[in-house]
Amino acid sequence: MLKRLLACIREYKAATILTLVFILGEAVIETLIPTKTADLITFVNDGSPMEMVIRTGLILTAMAIVSLACGTLAAFTCSKAATGLSKNLRHDLFAQVQKYSFQNIDKFSSSSLVTRMTTDVNNVQFAFMMIIRMGLRSPLMFILSVIAAYRMGGSLATAFVVVIPLLVVGLALIGKFALPAFRSVFKKYDRLNESVEENVRGMRVVKGFSREEHEKEKFGRASEDIRKDFTKAERIVALNQPLMTLCMYFDMVFILTVGTHMAVVDRSVDIGQISAMITYGVQILMSLMFLSMIYVMVTMSAESLKRIDEVLTEQPTLVNPGQPVMEVTDGSIDFENVSFKYSAQAKRSALENISLHIPTGTTVGILGGTGSSKSTLVQLIPRLYDVTEGTLKVGGTDVRQYDLETLRDSVAMVLQKNELFSGTIAENLRWGNENASDEEITHACRLAQAEEFIERFPDKYETYIEQGGTNVSGGQKQRLCIARALLKKPKILILDDSTSAVDTKTDQLIRQGFREFIPETTKIIIAQRVASVQDADMIIVMDNGTIADVGTHEELLSRSPIYREVFEQQTSGNGGED
Ligand SMILES: Nc1ncnc2c1ncn2[C@@H]1O[C@H](COP(=O)(O)OP(=O)(O)OP(=O)(O)O)[C@@H](O)[C@H]1O
Ligand SMILES: [Mg+2]
Repeated sequence: MLKRLLACIREYKAATILTLVFILGEAVIETLIPTKTADLITFVNDGSPMEMVIRTGLILTAMAIVSLACGTLAAFTCSKAATGLSKNLRHDLFAQVQKYSFQNIDKFSSSSLVTRMTTDVNNVQFAFMMIIRMGLRSPLMFILSVIAAYRMGGSLATAFVVVIPLLVVGLALIGKFALPAFRSVFKKYDRLNESVEENVRGMRVVKGFSREEHEKEKFGRASEDIRKDFTKAERIVALNQPLMTLCMYFDMVFILTVGTHMAVVDRSVDIGQISAMITYGVQILMSLMFLSMIYVMVTMSAESLKRIDEVLTEQPTLVNPGQPVMEVTDGSIDFENVSFKYSAQAKRSALENISLHIPTGTTVGILGGTGSSKSTLVQLIPRLYDVTEGTLKVGGTDVRQYDLETLRDSVAMVLQKNELFSGTIAENLRWGNENASDEEITHACRLAQAEEFIERFPDKYETYIEQGGTNVSGGQKQRLCIARALLKKPKILILDDSTSAVDTKTDQLIRQGFREFIPETTKIIIAQRVASVQDADMIIVMDNGTIADVGTHEELLSRSPIYREVFEQQTSGNGGED
């Protein structure tokens, strides 16, 4: 896990190493400074020649400047390395998620992926910054200061024998209790982030149902919960302060009383040494405190790192075969004893033993109640999911043998939950085919009955679509998505409830256009309205994951009770409009 993280440093290796070098320089000089200061004090005290005093003073100034420069440079290189690392991490995460199949995404959920790419990456960035700045500095300062103190202070250094174990135990206890508290805060943060995302995304629904107050309360509770946990964690960490002060005063009192006694009575130490010992004491205690903070930080971010690593190591469930077939010959489709489960753990199969032959160029309608697995059935064709059992063939070849891109270029699918992306209409349409000419675009839009409303926009094809397509109506969005799919010139075109927001007349015009202009394309139309599939060559009636019946409108009317019931419901009284 750590190895994969370090691999992400890549082009920021130099900055990372430089940081360590600067920190090393800073730490070494900082531990030398008290010794030199002690010399200076001794010289002044002993009335040594002015020249020596000035020289030592100048050396001290130079040391201070170099140490400051090292510290400043370390801060620069460190922030460069840490932000660089997080950039690379985000980049790798994003690239990995692009490889994911629908199944992989189902496993994580999209909002959890967003949290992992943002909050978790930030945590790791912060921890990395702490580690390269403090992780080396603190233990180094600790060791160097202890050595220097013993060399200089001799028996005075016994002050640390008492204080260091006391502090180590105290800080370890603080870490032990603070850590679980911080962990729980971070978990709750995730949940808060997810609820914010859900709320903002579903803002229109929230407003539509006047649920603002409820949502505000829900958010308020979650937020208050975090405040409580955070306060608890911070309170434990705040104990650092009194513990440190206690140790510091103990040290000072010890060094000052014992030191003064030694200086006055047996003259074994001088004032310079006493002052240096106090500085070393502070340095030792401070480095211990930083070490304990790093410990808490690192363990906390280990959670984030684990979550990032899960995404990076998740195996995409759909991969290209070794020797992929690079051409789809025609638009025929064969389901051979196909069964499908959304996950291995799922108790129920979403599709049960489906066998079906669809000749190329036919128009197929699919009808069935909600949850009868209509979408599930068609999602297998462009290999958005793989069959669990049986075989699914397109153009006579198992879909698993095709190059994924080739297959998906030949099978255009307008998803039930379709999306437009921020950009102009033309840009959105070119997702279907980057190189589409203007004529091809207008032709596709004419077929999808989108031309008429696009022409009414002041900027026409250059009209800017907001993120998620919020500035076009549901029916307009559906027609744009159909046009986008048509631009692929697919061998198979699948519309999953894609004209549900379009009026009956336009719906009919779209189907008529398909018949006239793309006769060779196999067209699969999932619809709620019988009118949308009535004139299809074959209609599939789905019921609870199985095919209840297949036939033409007339055949089904005479023999399928489900079909007859739907038809009668829609044609009687309210005219079948939703
Ligand atoms: N991503 C998924 N993960 C797990 N189960 C799913 C997933 N998508 C759908 N299902 C389940 O599979 C079954 C069939 O769903 P499907 O979306 O295919 O129905 P549908 O016929 O298209 O319904 P609708 O008319 O409402 O679109 C349902 O029971 C549903 O809960
Ligand atoms: Mg569906």
